[in-house]
Amino acid sequence: MSFIELAKKRYSCRSYQNKKVEKEKLDIILEAAQVAPTGANTQPQRLIVVQESEGLNKLSKSANLYGAQLAIIVCCDKNKTWTRPFDGRKLTDIDASIVTDHMMMAATDLGLNSVWVCYFKPEILRMEFNIPDQLEPINILVIGYGDGKVESPDRHSKTRLPLSQTVSYETM
Ligand SMILES: Cc1cc2nc3c(=O)[nH]c(=O)nc-3n(C[C@H](O)[C@H](O)[C@H](O)COP(=O)(O)O)c2cc1C
Repeated sequence: MSFIELAKKRYSCRSYQNKKVEKEKLDIILEAAQVAPTGANTQPQRLIVVQESEGLNKLSKSANLYGAQLAIIVCCDKNKTWTRPFDGRKLTDIDASIVTDHMMMAATDLGLNSVWVCYFKPEILRMEFNIPDQLEPINILVIGYGDGKVESPDRHSKTRLPLSQTVSYETM
């Protein structure tokens, strides 16, 4: 499958079977995270893999997991991520999100479903998973075997803006 076919196949899945993700698949997803680029190659990501029922219950206090049996909390170390000297902007969200996107696409390639979650309560997450101050939880990637409607890879003409509204050439 070409990359564009894979990207069109992926959709946000909000209902999952009560089925674990195999270790072999999780390992490939984590390898995708490992090879993701980060600013200045600082690799500030810290991933918490949650797949045991105790952890999933704790995570459910902070976010909706839609019944999935695997979630990865993507944190970024504010002290490690690169800072642009001109304006002091840290790459925290960018680094964490590239790692998250790599894992999401790897999961799609493995025949898994996923949903990217930012709607979570950070303080509950920090408390339940002992996340220290320098780590900022940025994203939760919920992964599993979808249960329910499969979204069409042809839906984007209806669900996305035309390129003419988001792209300009040479100047705005
Ligand atoms: C940065 C980001 C944050 C998101 N947060 C949530 C979320 O908290 N809960 C949720 O159900 N979906 C969340 N989504 C999924 C988006 O709503 C979804 O990607 C978008 O509506 C497009 O639909 P599609 O993924 O099915 O193509 C998030 C997606 C992104 C990229």
